[in-house]
Amino acid sequence: MRICNVLKGICGLLWITGLVCPVSAQFAMPSQAVRDSIKKANQDDYQNMLNQLHITSIRTHVTNYDEAKANPYPNLPDPLTLKNGKKVTTPKMWWDQRRPEIVEDFDREVYGRVPANTPKVKWVIKNTIKNTLDGKEYITKELEGQVDNSSYPAVSVNIQLTLTTPATAKGPVPVIMEFGFMFPGMSTFPVAGAPGAEKSWQQQVLEKGWGYAIIIPNSIQGDSGDGLHRGIIGMMNKGQYRKPDDWGVLRAWGWGASRALDYFETDPAVDAKKVGLEGHSRYGKATLVAVANDPRFAIAFVTSSGAGGAKLNRHDYGEVVENVAKADEYHWMAGNYIKYAGPLNWNDLPVDSHELIALCAPRPVFISVGGQGDRWADPVGMFLAQVGAGPVYKLLGKKDLGTDQFPAVETTLADGELGFRQHPGGHTNGPNWPMFLTFAERYFK
Ligand code: GCU
Repeated sequence: MRICNVLKGICGLLWITGLVCPVSAQFAMPSQAVRDSIKKANQDDYQNMLNQLHITSIRTHVTNYDEAKANPYPNLPDPLTLKNGKKVTTPKMWWDQRRPEIVEDFDREVYGRVPANTPKVKWVIKNTIKNTLDGKEYITKELEGQVDNSSYPAVSVNIQLTLTTPATAKGPVPVIMEFGFMFPGMSTFPVAGAPGAEKSWQQQVLEKGWGYAIIIPNSIQGDSGDGLHRGIIGMMNKGQYRKPDDWGVLRAWGWGASRALDYFETDPAVDAKKVGLEGHSRYGKATLVAVANDPRFAIAFVTSSGAGGAKLNRHDYGEVVENVAKADEYHWMAGNYIKYAGPLNWNDLPVDSHELIALCAPRPVFISVGGQGDRWADPVGMFLAQVGAGPVYKLLGKKDLGTDQFPAVETTLADGELGFRQHPGGHTNGPNWPMFLTFAERYFK
């Protein structure tokens, strides 16, 4: 049983990195020739983007883990100053003037623009399964979001989503959706943990009387540069190369999550005004991008998102812009983002991640990170971004984090709309689920 789980884990990882086709070769490693050709196609896409940007090479960066040296650019762009220098003093000025400026900068320079004419998605329930857990009945729906590909039939996209809700609920329930590390073959319903073991996040959500959903990012958009010629990005580009301000994979995953939310709005089991989104690591980045861009998401649980996510681009600790701009990660971002790894610098970015969090305001955002084993994700860099978002929350009549001093491990900061917690473990969100759910309960009562 154990070995089987380990194998599934390895397979899942290969699938996430785009090396294994989930359907045809679930447990098989692709041949060297196939891996070489994927690598070459990746390199080709990356090189094409460098050429469009007139960049011959990007800077190399020596990873820093010394907090005393982590702050080369302490002055962040002010979320409450308009480009013309005027101060933003009212919520109306934020909504009408400043917020659109920030959205435009993120779209053009950081995550890329979602095309205006994205196709319709038809949601089909493929399976309805009854499950029982702790004596209670649940309904799991296995759904497929069939994307209309009439504009480019060479690419098809079918978004995989499962939704589990209590069978006996008196009305629609809140739902927490995860960008899942699921892959075909894994159970869509949580198996109860062994006695004394930590409960799965799904169990914890169900115990609140809510539902949970899992959306499979790779079914929206593959996780590689080569994959940009397929998936929803490839469909919109008709298989061609991206332009420097076209959407990257994080924005595409966020688009897919919004389409799932479209479906929830039609399902009477779901209270679509109380849908939260959660994701870990690269999916933590996607979670923040999705919630920032779709005001219908009620709450975000952003875990170990690091560079390209909640961490400040200007903070030199763990992963930095130079790492994300490399051939194995640039596809998450707009091509333009590469420029800030050379010739431009981090400080030339017109926006930073505190403003991405601010785009979620006034909605609650909980940022989670681990300890020593999660240094790559830059705990302090994410904390400082949340501090920097505070003034926008306050302008909108909400509470900020309440402190600008990095808290001791295992301190939950969650008195206001911005929640933060560093657990002592590694690169995982497990230990922070209970604190996030307590935080969410305030809004989902
Ligand atoms: C790498 C990458 C991170 C990312 C992580 C993941 O470590 O550098 O930015 O969050 O993979 O998603 O697993």
